[in-house]
Amino acid sequence: MGALVRLCGRGEVDPGTARRFDVDGHRIALVRIGDDFYAIGDECSHEDYSLSEGDVWEDEHEIECPKHGSTFSLLTGEPQTLPATKPVPIYEVQVDGDDVQVVLP
Ligand code: FES
Repeated sequence: MGALVRLCGRGEVDPGTARRFDVDGHRIALVRIGDDFYAIGDECSHEDYSLSEGDVWEDEHEIECPKHGSTFSLLTGEPQTLPATKPVPIYEVQVDGDDVQVVLP
């Protein structure tokens, strides 16, 4: 198992939004849907744009790249629409009390 790293408190990300964190060389978009958190690589696999600046599609569990509109599954990291064709990494999230943590590989 990798390192468990605290990103923030539960209340620091609003439902339906994403926030970027840079930790130990990993650039992570932390996404909140309701009371659930998802962590996905923040750098779009098409070009270097920040997925955390895109819209969160709550029902689909996807995030939309703000540059060209590819959406990525928060569950698998796979692109759901062009122009991106390669997945972005996803990270396991663990919530412990008020702490939102990710497992780094
Ligand atoms: S930079 Fe994300 S879809 Fe082009």
